[in-house]
Amino acid sequence: MTSERVLIAPSILSADFACLGAAIAMVEAAGAGWIHVDVMDGHFVPNLTIGPPVVRALKRVCTVPLDVHLMIDNPDATVGWYLEAGADLVTVHAEACTHLHRIVQEIHAGGAKAGVSLNPATPASVLAEVIGDIDLVLVMSVNPGFGGQAFIPTSVAKVGEIAEMAREARSEVIIEVDGGIDEVTAPLVVGAGARALVAGNAIFGRPDPAAALQAIRGAAERALTQSA
Ligand code: DX5
Ligand code: ZN
Repeated sequence: MTSERVLIAPSILSADFACLGAAIAMVEAAGAGWIHVDVMDGHFVPNLTIGPPVVRALKRVCTVPLDVHLMIDNPDATVGWYLEAGADLVTVHAEACTHLHRIVQEIHAGGAKAGVSLNPATPASVLAEVIGDIDLVLVMSVNPGFGGQAFIPTSVAKVGEIAEMAREARSEVIIEVDGGIDEVTAPLVVGAGARALVAGNAIFGRPDPAAALQAIRGAAERALTQSA
């Protein structure tokens, strides 16, 4: 048995954008560990969502950390906006950063935790030189841009590979998985080493989002107990 928990980060991308405060309050009451905020610029990904003013507004009402996922080109130029807006964790895509090490330092200097995300086609090996400096790896298990897509099964092996890299580097990095997470896929990635899970459609797309969140966490934590 283990007392370790799996953190659930509901993605508000699948919530009603006209009622974000209510959506956040509901999932916080159900035990959400972080609120996952998907920032898309219409260039790095083919979708456009929210920016710093909305992050700032969410920060006023959120009681758990804001997990801000930047799906934007050239985050070096604008990461400061999200730090000032109150992001608690800021995740950038390795594919979008010319100076990945520098931006990780900048995020830390701004008082936030730093994450690096990998698209499905990006190998785990790009993390080799930064794994000791970051707090979070966000493994994309769909191609980023939209909620409600199907989980890509090869993501499970990638999570395992990153968990092994982290062990070798004696890094405490948290592995978070994003895309197509539900009661069926959550145990697969937790068994491979993930300890934080983003879920959008499988929470906000269900008639009872609070019960859906708890079902995902229950399935994930059973997998943790079995793999202990
Ligand atoms: C996809 C986003 C995800 C998305 C996940 O580009 O980064 O956070 O909201 O949504 P689901 O859980 O519906 O796949
Ligand atoms: Zn995301």
